[in-house]
Amino acid sequence: MAERVVDLPLSKRLALALDTPDLDSALDLVRRTRGAVGTYKVGLELFTSVGPQILKALRKEDVDVFLDLKLHDIPNTVTGAVHAAARHEVALLTVHASGGRAMLTAAQAALAGKTTVPGAGITRLLAVTALTHLTGNELSAIGFTGGPDDVVARLARLAKDAGLFGVVCSPEEAALVRRECGPELAIVTPGIRSRDASPARDDQARTATAFEAVRDGADIVVVGRPIRSAPDPAEAAARLLDEIAQGLQARA
Ligand code: C5P
Repeated sequence: MAERVVDLPLSKRLALALDTPDLDSALDLVRRTRGAVGTYKVGLELFTSVGPQILKALRKEDVDVFLDLKLHDIPNTVTGAVHAAARHEVALLTVHASGGRAMLTAAQAALAGKTTVPGAGITRLLAVTALTHLTGNELSAIGFTGGPDDVVARLARLAKDAGLFGVVCSPEEAALVRRECGPELAIVTPGIRSRDASPARDDQARTATAFEAVRDGADIVVVGRPIRSAPDPAEAAARLLDEIAQGLQARA
């Protein structure tokens, strides 16, 4: 992963979510989409099923690995998990911003300075703000005050202050986060759906197209079902890359 998010090549701005149950189906999807996609996201389902084997297999394919474990625990435990992920040379790793300042600071410190953990220079941390399936009502039901915008802005600032590489938010909040946190913080947005919404929004509540997300400030878009369920995943990924390129141009 590039030191600075502005230096990211186009293919690494599309992260394909490998939400599959086993190694073979994950690697099949990688081989079918590798030309267009430069970053692959390993989430809870695949990592729980397959374990670190998937990380090794992806490194052999020479692609960036985005390990989406959404860590949320006491600082000491998160530090250990960040070290373990760094040893696997993952490019991106997620933690929950709502784990709080001490947890975020510890997670970032685990990668910084004089650490002897191999891979610590490669791994970058992303803080998840509010999950994209959460509506305003659901956020208040779990105790977050203010609407999604307030929650996301507050958590993004917390992540930035703790020195993290970036945040994960819905495309609807990308412009807000960019305004609040400036040009250096990487913004990663799932919840990407095409206008004709095929497949439909599924369980995502706050969605946008890849073009809109990037135009509004997203640096990396995470896409799962719209590529995985497409009749031709490689073609769907190539189309999304075009949209990302157009979004970057529209920003200027
Ligand atoms: O299939 P779909 O495009 O909805 O996949 C979105 C991916 O992004 C999933 O792997 C999901 O875990 C992840 N994600 C999300 N919302 C967040 C963080 C991650 O949907 N806030």
